[in-house]
Amino acid sequence: MREMSLNRVGIDAGGTLVKVAYSRDGELHYRKFPSRYLAEAAAWVKEYVPEAAVCATGGKAEWLQSMFAPEQCSILPEFTATCSGVQHLLSLTKNPPESYILTNVGTGTSIHYVEKDTQIRIGGTGVGGGTMMGLAALLTGVDDFSQMVEAAAKGKRSIVDLLVQDIYEGSTPPIIGDLTASNFGKIPLGKGDGVSREDMLAAVVGLVGETVATTSIFASGQYGTSDIVYIGSTFADNPVLQEAVAGYTRFKEANPLFVEHGEYSGAIGALLACQS
Ligand SMILES: Nc1ncnc2c1ncn2[C@@H]1O[C@H](COP(=O)(O)OP(=O)(O)OP(=O)(O)O)[C@@H](O)[C@H]1O
Ligand SMILES: [Mg+2]
Repeated sequence: MREMSLNRVGIDAGGTLVKVAYSRDGELHYRKFPSRYLAEAAAWVKEYVPEAAVCATGGKAEWLQSMFAPEQCSILPEFTATCSGVQHLLSLTKNPPESYILTNVGTGTSIHYVEKDTQIRIGGTGVGGGTMMGLAALLTGVDDFSQMVEAAAKGKRSIVDLLVQDIYEGSTPPIIGDLTASNFGKIPLGKGDGVSREDMLAAVVGLVGETVATTSIFASGQYGTSDIVYIGSTFADNPVLQEAVAGYTRFKEANPLFVEHGEYSGAIGALLACQS
């Protein structure tokens, strides 16, 4: 790995969150800011890591760049930065996979095939962390991420989601009966009596998790690899989503991987590319 000096900062300015990575005392440090406070994030960098060479990535990188002196802030393409950050984080783990599917569940979800230092963008889905927060707010009024995760952990998806065995009641289903046949499918059948806020939130997390996992599994079949690395702030301190995604991925005989600090991959990749 290239030596990371004190005066370099990598910033991934995404649709929802700005992720900042910087190195100090030989260690990587991290910060997150809401993207709607982009100017505050830039001000924080100027105050706490002054005179640093900044490398920015993500959808709001150009806007962020305009807040720095032109020679102070360079830009790295988002997928290059993310892939390089993930490679770095994986290199710190035991037996990192050589090739894998990379699924970044940010505001939306982007899916890539990574082999060595190259990545191919396979596709994505608009169902991502923004969907989770949007549906949670519309259905229950909960608009805080941590509160949403905490409440979802107490809910039961089975009150809301229709399982295969619910359709095949009394008969033998052609596939495993406890698979989801229809996310939220019990509601229109009038079976949703007594649904709590927690149940709805658990079902929202399940919908996002199953969509993301299913799409990633199709991608892994297409590219002949069984390792799927899941990153993005949507997974951060969100065991309910991690379990939904990991459980379904394993059920499909693929191998889910969550790397520590994975949500900072773009910022780390930008930091590594930063010229001081
Ligand atoms: N403190 C938080 N505030 C808001 N959302 C959060 C927070 N922590 C985690 N999240 C979740 O993380 C998601 C954003 O993830 P991430 O930071 O990876 O995306 P992004 O980079 O901003 O978006 P994109 O890559 O699509 O441009 C949110 O949609 C939400 O589900
Ligand atoms: Mg992002």
